[in-house]
Amino acid sequence: MHEEAIAPAVAAGLTLEEKAALLSGEGAWETTAIPRLGIRSIVLTDGPHGVRKLAPDAEAFRFRSSLPATCFPTAAALGSSWDADLLHSVGEALGREARTAGVSVLLGPGINIKRSPLCGRNFEYLSEDPVVSGHLGAALVRGVQSTGVGSSVKHFAANNQETERMRVSADVDERTLREIYLAGFEHVVTAAAPWTVMAAYNRINGVPAAHNHWLLTDVLRGEWNFDGLVMSDWGAVSDPEASVTAGLDLEMPANAASAARLVDAVRTGRIEEAVLDRAVARLLTLVARTAGTTDSVSPVDPETHHALARRAAAESAVLLKNQDSLLPLDPDARMTVAVVGEFARTPRFQGAGSSWVNPTQVDSALDALTAAAGEHLDVSFAAGFTLAGEPDEALLAEAVAASASAGIAVVFLGLPEGEESEGFDRTHLHLPDVQVRLLEEVARVNSHVVVVLANGGVVQTAAWQHHAKAILEGWLNGQAGGAAVADLLFGRVNPSGRLAETVPLRLQDTPSYLNFPGSEGVVPYGERLYVGYRYYDTVDMPVGYPFGHGLSYTTFSYSDLHTEVLGENEEGVAVRLRLTLANTGPVIGKEVVQVYVGDVDASVDRPLRELKAFQKVELAPGQQTTVTFDLSARDLSFYSPTLHRWVLESGDFHVSVGSSSRDLRLTATVPVTAPPVVRPLGMASSVGEWLAHPEGAPLLRDLLNTTKGSALGTDPEISRMIESLPLERLLAMSAGRMDAAPLSRLTEWATVPAP
Ligand code: BGC
Repeated sequence: MHEEAIAPAVAAGLTLEEKAALLSGEGAWETTAIPRLGIRSIVLTDGPHGVRKLAPDAEAFRFRSSLPATCFPTAAALGSSWDADLLHSVGEALGREARTAGVSVLLGPGINIKRSPLCGRNFEYLSEDPVVSGHLGAALVRGVQSTGVGSSVKHFAANNQETERMRVSADVDERTLREIYLAGFEHVVTAAAPWTVMAAYNRINGVPAAHNHWLLTDVLRGEWNFDGLVMSDWGAVSDPEASVTAGLDLEMPANAASAARLVDAVRTGRIEEAVLDRAVARLLTLVARTAGTTDSVSPVDPETHHALARRAAAESAVLLKNQDSLLPLDPDARMTVAVVGEFARTPRFQGAGSSWVNPTQVDSALDALTAAAGEHLDVSFAAGFTLAGEPDEALLAEAVAASASAGIAVVFLGLPEGEESEGFDRTHLHLPDVQVRLLEEVARVNSHVVVVLANGGVVQTAAWQHHAKAILEGWLNGQAGGAAVADLLFGRVNPSGRLAETVPLRLQDTPSYLNFPGSEGVVPYGERLYVGYRYYDTVDMPVGYPFGHGLSYTTFSYSDLHTEVLGENEEGVAVRLRLTLANTGPVIGKEVVQVYVGDVDASVDRPLRELKAFQKVELAPGQQTTVTFDLSARDLSFYSPTLHRWVLESGDFHVSVGSSSRDLRLTATVPVTAPPVVRPLGMASSVGEWLAHPEGAPLLRDLLNTTKGSALGTDPEISRMIESLPLERLLAMSAGRMDAAPLSRLTEWATVPAP
């Protein structure tokens, strides 16, 4: 018998108490064991960028008492790599480390959308765009699960802030949910089949995610065919009967009161035992699926994983600015490079909270730069500021003096740990004043300034960026981030990261500004679909750095865009794109080719353009290649909450390829033919909607033709006014003037529900 099929058979031998016990954990990080039936307990641990396995004898929720593990770059960094193969490799490495540590399920990736740059946990999320989050999240899940370790995709769903995270209701319309906040999860579930999904703390339109039948059963299982286990975020269940009925299978951590309540609920008939059986079967299936994690495995080589962390950090850094090609630095130049800023010596490379990893080693950029410098290049160091953030005139003066006598000053700035974390949100986008002052003073004495940033959520650059010729956004880049920064600054690696979220000019420009983080227990998603670049591009607002932006030490040209529509019906429509990409610069490099689609003729409001596909392509100088993309009907569709489905409309679509959402190199207009969208009609539908309906129109015309004094068609303004009236109002106002026969034909037809 296949292992997964054993689950129901074993479940049959369990007592009611044992079933209920299985549906919450045993302790903080394990599932319940039933030794009499040979059901073992499995270990679940964070997280997204490193294995946080608790040290033996450590207290359960001491996040910083974990065994050493490789701290890979955080999701904010990995998302900026736009490199699915890389995420797969990182996932594999995480899976191997988990297996070695006896961990069966890794709690990650977090693929929530970065709705506001203020979310304190944005460092744990990949992007403001669901295509980036979904594709990279799926690659990571595939990598983890290829090692026999399960992945828990979190936090499902609409968990986009930390303020009131356990109580707040994300009030969001269904179209926005489907197109923005669920789309990434949908892709991960359908493309990578994660073994578990973690239900979020927050409510969605008033209903807790962990008790939400629509979310956990109708959408996740019914529509997306998810066949794994749904677990709660830690402490997210307030009503175990509601959660198990909604489709949540495992409450974490242990909760004896929940188990007792489930037993009572079955005994007194409030829920059927079959509901528990279903959840138990899913738990046992997970235990069976992860059976391999108890096999002995060859030990992980920490150096190999450190090297992967270094490569990942280098792929993820984004070169925002590089005036006069100041970078890369020549390691053999005869000069002094002043390295300034405490972060160069004491790197900030990960975020705080449940994802915190005890690194196996940490590279500082200062050490790496010193080691990589040739014999003529001197590297000096001045801290410039303390991590506590208090002004320190002596440190400032020392840094200014060091910069004045150097050829180039490389200034390491960023967010101190206390400014962003799981558990609270940020209130502004600024760097600390002491750091901005340091930069200003350094720039006064040295015109060749490079800024290297360390931050999880984006920081505003507009106020200070004119002081720097080059800016490298390093993110929270993991334990090998320092070495990666040296690789990039010296040009041993060509920068290829791209912004997976927009850097706004001002906080006030951000689309959720007026609604974030909400009040009185509710956060209205008033900006709807217009998140990140979808908003800035649609309203044509200037930004600091656009979504998708990132420079390279080489240049790329785009040419010969060909588009071809394959198939003509709703299922079959697909658009194939082909273009030529060439490396036209001096060094090998990687370009992220981005495909954006805009529906010019849409009948509903749609963002000006939306990312639908991307590919990271490496080319040697002078080399060129053909890059191909297939867009599906779904890629061109919007979600209609009234039709309850994705809708593709006929008309022209603008398909653009380019290097950022604001650097579109080629655009084609693609005419698409799709079946007409027929919306069901009722008496509350407008006259105009009736007249546009293939079956409704003749019925209404018949009626109007027999109505004495019908003003429709008399003059254009009156006609438009009438077309906007709900039909029932028109009928009420025309009472007595209409012919009975056509009226009853129309009302009869309208009351028969559409097939
Ligand atoms: C976090 C999850 C995490 C869990 C276990 C929660 O507070 O939201 O992301 O996996 O704790 O540490």
